[in-house]
Amino acid sequence: MRPDTTVLLDEKRVFKPDVETVENAHVKNWEIEIEKGKDIEKYWAEKAEDLDWFQKWDQVLDESNKPFYKWFINGKINLAYNAVDRWIRTNKRNHVAILYVNERGDERKLTYYELYCEVNKMANALKNLGVKKGETVAMYLPMCPELVVSMLACTKIGALHSVVYSGLSVGAFVGRMNHAEAKILITADGTYRKGKIIDLKKISDEALLQCPTIETVVVVQHTGNDIEVSDLSGKEIFYERLLEGEPAECEPEHMDAEDPLFVLYTSGTTGKPKGVLHTTGGYMVGVSTTLKNIFDIHGNDLWWCTGDIGWITGHSYTVYGPLLLGTTTLIYEGAPDFPDPGTWWSIIEKYGVTKFYTAPTSIRHLMRFGNRYLDLYDISTLKILGTVGEPLNSEAWMWLYKTIGKERIPIIDTWWQTETGMQLISPLPSAYLKPGSVNKAVPGVEADIVDEEGNPVPIGKGGYLVIKKPWPAMFRTLYKDDEKYKEIYWDPIPGVYKADDVARRDEDGYIWIQGRSDDVLKIASHRIGTAEVESAFVSHPAVSEAAVIGKSDPVKGEVIKAFVILREGYELKTKLIKELIQHVRYELGPVAVIGEIAQVDALPQTSGKIMRRVLRAQEMGEDLTDL
Ligand code: PRX
Repeated sequence: MRPDTTVLLDEKRVFKPDVETVENAHVKNWEIEIEKGKDIEKYWAEKAEDLDWFQKWDQVLDESNKPFYKWFINGKINLAYNAVDRWIRTNKRNHVAILYVNERGDERKLTYYELYCEVNKMANALKNLGVKKGETVAMYLPMCPELVVSMLACTKIGALHSVVYSGLSVGAFVGRMNHAEAKILITADGTYRKGKIIDLKKISDEALLQCPTIETVVVVQHTGNDIEVSDLSGKEIFYERLLEGEPAECEPEHMDAEDPLFVLYTSGTTGKPKGVLHTTGGYMVGVSTTLKNIFDIHGNDLWWCTGDIGWITGHSYTVYGPLLLGTTTLIYEGAPDFPDPGTWWSIIEKYGVTKFYTAPTSIRHLMRFGNRYLDLYDISTLKILGTVGEPLNSEAWMWLYKTIGKERIPIIDTWWQTETGMQLISPLPSAYLKPGSVNKAVPGVEADIVDEEGNPVPIGKGGYLVIKKPWPAMFRTLYKDDEKYKEIYWDPIPGVYKADDVARRDEDGYIWIQGRSDDVLKIASHRIGTAEVESAFVSHPAVSEAAVIGKSDPVKGEVIKAFVILREGYELKTKLIKELIQHVRYELGPVAVIGEIAQVDALPQTSGKIMRRVLRAQEMGEDLTDL
């Protein structure tokens, strides 16, 4: 989307917060908190005091080598220690840390003490496998406790994790593994999805043929899919066997605040996914503070973030945020509509979920069923509802507010990215809300909307969304590519972080996100690069060139429309269409939802670059006179 796209701002409704919500909130006056946050160093240093440091920092922010910012200089800390160990000396010792539920109705609970023992065993086991501080462990796992344990075990010993979303398939998996050069892969026999078991082991077996750095594969027997020990190759071991006999104690590594924590790959405009690198101290401060203030987390909350752990939402807010705050995090494996579209409401009722964080696409999907399933359950325990990943249109916002929240609870639309690590633009529960707006930058963060030169644009006019000051959970670089980090995010508009989203601001300073300005699609909240999809298309023998664009879809946000030039001798008949869809799915996984394929003789190009903008304009019947 281009920044000058005109969209009329006709949403005038404003909703005041409920008195009880404000009375109980950590932050009772969001505007005062935003004022406090203007002194970023003072603000974030104060928040950092909530964590347990082995050694306190001697400088909050180092800006001497922009844009390579550093936070909490010389501070020493450990994430697993703060997320798990410190709670076992408190009355939270036997409090449920992880509540795992799946679509078959199975459940598993791990208290903080049980999680502590399990993480330590896994940490010791990883050490025995030769994993050292600074090395990377890859994970290709379903939403399951073993994934959380493995991530925490890495952070305990100072190893990085690189989690690959289990909905991605062979091609996407290989690219990420090889770039991360991981020595260990932790995977599972399968994952539950809509009544079926997806065989993750088979996908990773295929991928591993092309991943030479992996020395050991740890297999979690999660679904009970038939794998015998004798089926395992010499470099494979079952998770349970690996942990056998390991001591349940492990000293946490004293990590420097700026030591790398994890790499997470995300789609960009180039064909290759970008390895987003997060570091330790600032990430912990940013994630725990935002979750505490934005979702107003208290000790007795039951927190449920449906975000898959394979993406940043799951890293920051399914796993780390809630554990750093010592609350219970519900981890659900399955789809929102299986066995029926009442599943999520039934879980909220059964466990008494209090705070719920999900994606607009899931909300729009469930909205289609109206009250039919909702009326079967009592979901009145809910106190805050939030979304992330793509715009929450005002219709879906109103549905959440009225039908789910009974006009009583705040609807929190949060804007952030893999790169930002934490929520950056979002209302707080005490804020006045406007349906469809992400409100304002959170306390301690400064956002603006500017033109290409970095000048603020007038009220109501579209522009580039930028972040003007560093924030603690910001990514520190692109893994192994400092140059691209500068080039993509910091060079385009000097002095600020360019998010590549287009937005507007209204007369009250509220921000309205319009969409992405680059060639990245948002399909059901998953970020997918057009270039990645195109290279999947051209890796099929029938296709010589391909260009893809996002086509808006009422439920998924966007689906892919592909324009393909076929090689001689091929025709785009039903059989080939099916084959191409299957092929792209094989390469990228079910996240790449193809809505339509069209055969063309040529693609609009300028100096060798495909002009997707032209294809999009044509598709939408827009004027092309400026070409
Ligand atoms: O385009 C914005 C959209 O998601 C992008 C970031 O995607 P990803 O790195 O996968 O992270 C998603 C979860 C943090 C953004 O550049 N986006 C995210 N939140 C919103 C949004 N678009 C509109 N409204 C939001 N609340």
